[in-house]
Amino acid sequence: MRITPSLLNADFANLAGEAARIPSADYLHMDVMDNHFVPNLTLGAPVIEALAKAAPQPIDAHLMIEEPDRWAPQFVEAGASSVTFHVEAAQAPVRLAREIRAQGARASMALKPATPIEPYEDLLPELDMVLIMTVEPGFGGQKFLDLCLPKIRRTRALLDKVGGDIWLQVDGGVSLETIERCAEAGADTFVAGSAVYGADDPGAMVERLRETAAG
Ligand code: DX5
Ligand code: ZN
Repeated sequence: MRITPSLLNADFANLAGEAARIPSADYLHMDVMDNHFVPNLTLGAPVIEALAKAAPQPIDAHLMIEEPDRWAPQFVEAGASSVTFHVEAAQAPVRLAREIRAQGARASMALKPATPIEPYEDLLPELDMVLIMTVEPGFGGQKFLDLCLPKIRRTRALLDKVGGDIWLQVDGGVSLETIERCAEAGADTFVAGSAVYGADDPGAMVERLRETAAG
């Protein structure tokens, strides 16, 4: 069980300090939004580069942007250890995943709530992680969508069929209340933004989420 907290709800004026509050986080999940793929604008490769140098945890960059084929390599160069692109935006997801891997990072593909996994079954061996969004991407603090649970289960079954060690990440509305449902459906990697940074002690919340996911 991996906990990959999102810094979207952290203090953007003090990202290194916010990372230091969650020492046991497996990755720092950084939400990159371009105001086109989603109706919000956050940060780009220069901020990832600065944080990669300043924080000990590896960086999991979640690209909610158009043209990920064009921009993803910059995020690997900036120091992201894992780069997630949205399949809805990718022109050539196989080529893109191979490029990210060739650069030395983990390649991950994200699906919005209405995007089915089945058309992408044959792509799975090209990936290190699949991200199932459990809210519509764009904002932190939204309510977890239970309607995504069957897709998490179906994705788990496909990943088990493919074999290997492809992680299954969930993102959106993950909290102490919803994380067990995600784990039970087969997720093993959990993004939590407002649940972590809305807590009095974010570091302790990471531990509680990990224990709760483990059941
Ligand atoms: C939303 C982002 C999420 C967000 C999660 O589009 O991809 O990573 O920060 O925030 P919570 O955990 O508050 O739903
Ligand atoms: Zn995210």
